[in-house]
Amino acid sequence: MHQYSAQEIATLDHIVRERHSVRGYLPEQIPDELMQKVFETARWSPSGTNVQPWQICVASGETRDRIRAELLERVANKVATNPDHPGDAKIGDVWRERKRACARALYGAMGIEWEDREGRGRAAMRNHELFDAPHVAFLCIDDVFGKHTVADVGMYAQTLMLAMSANGIGSCAQGSLRDYPDLVRETFDLPPETKVLFGISFGFEDPDVPANQARTERATVSETVKFLN
Ligand SMILES: Cc1cc2nc3c(=O)[nH]c(=O)nc-3n(C[C@H](O)[C@H](O)[C@H](O)COP(=O)(O)O)c2cc1C
Repeated sequence: MHQYSAQEIATLDHIVRERHSVRGYLPEQIPDELMQKVFETARWSPSGTNVQPWQICVASGETRDRIRAELLERVANKVATNPDHPGDAKIGDVWRERKRACARALYGAMGIEWEDREGRGRAAMRNHELFDAPHVAFLCIDDVFGKHTVADVGMYAQTLMLAMSANGIGSCAQGSLRDYPDLVRETFDLPPETKVLFGISFGFEDPDVPANQARTERATVSETVKFLN
């Protein structure tokens, strides 16, 4: 196995820790070459039996504008959401507290009080505005695959987002972009068996957007990993 220098290892650690969800973008498009570069890295993600079940649809320019407008119209008209995959069941206290901490970090950065329902609604709407990102990727998988294979798409997503971070591109994974999968299938001419798992908005981070100051913590190793000899 290749021996990495201490500096290279520190760089990996730095990229992993510095990646954060970006929820406000500059309008500049990512140059084609850079776009190809990060997707080139992402395709080396691992998957069970190397089946590479991910199917990625990237919308930019007019396609992105149309998707964004359509999402906003549907949300404004309270069109019922129709995700391909069900949401979580009732989760336990540990998980709920982590979710709350995540919300506190984001609303805190945005100056929104928990009691401010309208403010929280506006923050939620930013999802369908794609946080103004100039690009959005939809991560899809055919419905022949089971839950365990869905994990492969998560592998891909993390590789992609780390490659983006390393190249100065911000991103935000968005489960909320599962809301209207038919729109994705229509736009990209996908067959009905191709299901939308989540989206990733991406582009260059706007440092002046307050939401981008939000940072989250992580549970410790001892809370999440059991080591046995
Ligand atoms: C699969 C997935 C779905 C997510 N969905 C959303 C979303 O719909 N909206 C949002 O603002 N953030 C979303 N996030 C971002 C998480 O809130 C974020 O990753 C988490 O709070 C950790 O923060 P960090 O990404 O800044 O490290 C999602 C992340 C993942 C991995």
